[in-house]
Amino acid sequence: MSSVLGIETSCDETAAAVVDEGRGVRSSVVSSQIDLHARFGGVVPEIASRAHVDLLTPVVAEALVEAGLEGPDVAAVAATIGPGLIGSLLVGVSHAKALALVWGVPFVGVNHLEAHLYASFLEEPSLELPVVVLLVSGGHTLLIHMEAPGHYRLLGQTIDDAAGEAFDKVARFLGLGYPGGPAIDRLAVEGDASAIAFPRGMRDEGLDFSFSGVKTSVITYVRKHPQVETADVAASFQEAVVDVLVTKAARAADQVGAKGICLAGGVAANSLLRERLLDSCIAAGRQAYLPSRAMCTDNAAMVAAAGWWRLQSDGPTSLAVGAYPNLRLPLS
Ligand code: KG4
Ligand code: ZN
Repeated sequence: MSSVLGIETSCDETAAAVVDEGRGVRSSVVSSQIDLHARFGGVVPEIASRAHVDLLTPVVAEALVEAGLEGPDVAAVAATIGPGLIGSLLVGVSHAKALALVWGVPFVGVNHLEAHLYASFLEEPSLELPVVVLLVSGGHTLLIHMEAPGHYRLLGQTIDDAAGEAFDKVARFLGLGYPGGPAIDRLAVEGDASAIAFPRGMRDEGLDFSFSGVKTSVITYVRKHPQVETADVAASFQEAVVDVLVTKAARAADQVGAKGICLAGGVAANSLLRERLLDSCIAAGRQAYLPSRAMCTDNAAMVAAAGWWRLQSDGPTSLAVGAYPNLRLPLS
C-alpha cells in the first residue's frame, strides 16, 4: 500500500496526515492556532511561523502513530509549497524535505489550491469526473472545470475580494471576532435573512464574482442604522453571498454540461451554502459533492491526496523547489 505523509502549514493550521493511494485516510491531525491569533483579530504571520516550528514535530508524530506507521514506511512526504504565508510555508517545506532525506523517500511539493480540489476524493469514492468545483477559501473564489486529475479549466474567479475574505471582513466590522466565517454562520441562525436586501454583485452575468460591494454595503447600512440586530445583518449578508455562489455554480455546470458540482475550501463549511447547493443540485438532477467540514477547511489529508496524484503524474519534486506565496492553480 502506497501511503503518503502530507504536511500543511500554509496559514494558521499545523496539520499532518497519512493517506493511502490518494483516497484512504489513515490519520489526519490538525492543530489550530486560532487561540494564538484571536486577540489580534486575524492571523499574525510571524506568530504563525513560530507556532508551526513548535507544533509540527508532535503533529507529524501523532499522524504516524495514528496511522500505525514508522517514518520510513511511507512512500513519499508531500507538503504545501504555496500559495500561503511565506514564513509558514517555509517551515512545512523544510520539515518535509528533511524527513524525505532522512527516510530516503521522495519529496512532493503540493499546490494548496489543488489540494482543496482533492478533498472530495477522500470521502466520495464514487466521485466521477468531470465536475465543476466551487473553491471558496480565505484567499480564493474559483469556479473550476475539473476534467481529470491534474486537468483544470478556470471558468470564473473573483475580481476583488474572496468570499472568505468578505466573511472575515464583515465579521470583524460587526465585532464577531476571528475567524469570521464560522461566527457569521452561527449567528445567522438567529437572524432574519430577508431583513436587509444586500446587493448580489454580478449575480446575473457570467461566471466571475465580486464581493467588495456587499461588504461595503453592510458597513454603510450598519452605520446608517446603528440599532439594527446584528443577527439580521449576518443572516442577510450570508444570504446575499450564498445566493451568488450557488447561482454561479449552477450556471457553470449548465454551461459545461457537468453532472456534478463539488464544494471545496473553508467557506464550503458554511451551513447555508451546503444546504442551498444541495437543493440546487437536486432540482437540476445533478450530483452534489459536499466534503465534511473538516475536509473543507485546511487539513493535510487533502495535501497527501494531491501529493499522491502528483507523484503518479510528475514523479518526485526536486529538493531545490522553494515556497511560493502567490502560487496559482496549474490550468490546462
Ligand atoms: O480553506 P481555508 O481553511 O483557508 C484558506 O486556504 O484560506 O479557508 C478559510 C476561510 C476563512 O475566510 C473562514 O472565515 C472561512 O474559510 N470559513 C467559513 C466557514 N468556516 C470557515 N466561511 C463561512 N462559513 C463557515 N462556516
Ligand atoms: Zn485552504
